[in-house]
Amino acid sequence: MRFSLVVLAAGEGKRMKSEKSKVVFRVSGKEMVNRVIDEACKAGVDKACVVVGHKAEMVMEAVGDRASFVTQSEQLGTGHAVMQAREFIAENENVMILAGDTPLITADTLKKAMEAHAENKNACTVLTACLDNPFGYGRIIRDEAGNVARIVEQKDANDEEKAVCEINSGMYCFDSAMLLKALDMLTNNNAQGEYYLTDTLEIIKQADGKVGAFTVPDAVEISGVNDRLQLAEAEKVMRRRINTRHALNGVTIIDIDATYIEDDVVIGQDSVIYPGTTLEKGSVIGKGVVIGQNCRIVNSAVGDGSDVYYSTMVDSTVGEGCHVGPYAYLRPKSTVGNNCKVGDFVELKNATLGDGTKASHLTYIGDATVGAGVNFGCGTVIVNYDGKSKFRTVIGDNAFIGCNSNLVSPVKVNDNAYIAAGSTITDEVPEGALAIARSRQVIKSDWKDKRSK
Ligand code: UD1
Ligand code: MG
Repeated sequence: MRFSLVVLAAGEGKRMKSEKSKVVFRVSGKEMVNRVIDEACKAGVDKACVVVGHKAEMVMEAVGDRASFVTQSEQLGTGHAVMQAREFIAENENVMILAGDTPLITADTLKKAMEAHAENKNACTVLTACLDNPFGYGRIIRDEAGNVARIVEQKDANDEEKAVCEINSGMYCFDSAMLLKALDMLTNNNAQGEYYLTDTLEIIKQADGKVGAFTVPDAVEISGVNDRLQLAEAEKVMRRRINTRHALNGVTIIDIDATYIEDDVVIGQDSVIYPGTTLEKGSVIGKGVVIGQNCRIVNSAVGDGSDVYYSTMVDSTVGEGCHVGPYAYLRPKSTVGNNCKVGDFVELKNATLGDGTKASHLTYIGDATVGAGVNFGCGTVIVNYDGKSKFRTVIGDNAFIGCNSNLVSPVKVNDNAYIAAGSTITDEVPEGALAIARSRQVIKSDWKDKRSK
């Protein structure tokens, strides 16, 4: 059975108290609206359309080519929002309707709901949940036979209806043709003066369509995010889900609630992740790696058996058996080979280090290509910027860069060359040579006595 997806995301989300659209707020690194679309796609919908209105451009930019868009210029209710997608809905046999602010829904649940919809030959299947506190949600009203009769909104409900704890999740599967017919008959004759999508259920029933409910196994999946407290709660649930998956995959996560891993991060077996660490989008951590406290690793790779402590890596790669940190900063486009050391207060930017190269402390390596087996003494600076342009330094294999050296780019230090400590290198250093580029020491004897006279 073929399904399209319509995501409602035109509302204002007042309670977020933000300049941003609610649906672009991120949960574990991914925008809520994109979580909804991605899960539905995993569950098997063919194509997606997002109804945008409030802050439309922001939403469209975040969603990108995941979906097409229709605009709802005035927010006249969920039914009115769906009406804007009429043409899109008509293109496919069935449509799933979701809201853009329910980031915890899973592909598994959506897939089961679609299957139930197909098996029962329903014209509408509403996803429901039973809540201890159903306040605010639409209530599922069933007839004597236990079939779904209609949905009544909180604001329209009488006391008996308010006592019902089965609620409307705001997620549905519809037969497209039946939905389109029902939308034509919607009115806004209710407490909020809105076109309620929920009223289509009764209309479909009257037209002899079958309406069923699919109760989600875990009610947390349908929780909506309306304010920043609920956002933090959703984040917590997502964090636990992601961390649980890694833990069960053989990764030691010391504190499951204080480790922040975005969905698509890959971590090898027997790695250990300490608290306070954030592993962001696109990161790949090898096997037997230790990521110590308070690291931030963004779109970067760490090879097997390496350790990284108290450090930041952005768009960079570290090979196998390396030691990084504490307090190293690998800025974009840094590539570190195997068995290297990038020690405390070492900063790399757009730099390549060959295997076995060591920069143990207080060093800046920017715009440089460094060979294998190079040793950087403490306090080395690659002087890559003249105030206008950036230049590149090239250092050959097994070079030894003495402490407190400046290498003024562009400059080349060939294989096996030595730089004397305290040198400022401006010219190419030949292979195997020693370059000393500092003034000689001068001794002025008895200086103190002479001065005081
Ligand atoms: C809706 C349901 C309610 C359900 C609840 C679940 C209706 C009438 N009620 O109520 O039964 O329990 O969701 O969370 O459908 N939107 C638009 N355009 C509009 C109005 C809303 O795009 O004109 C979007 C919002 O951005 C949001 C979604 O539709 O993503 C739901 O709208 P909201 O106003 O939150 O509906 P609820 O009152 O929560
Ligand atoms: Mg809502």
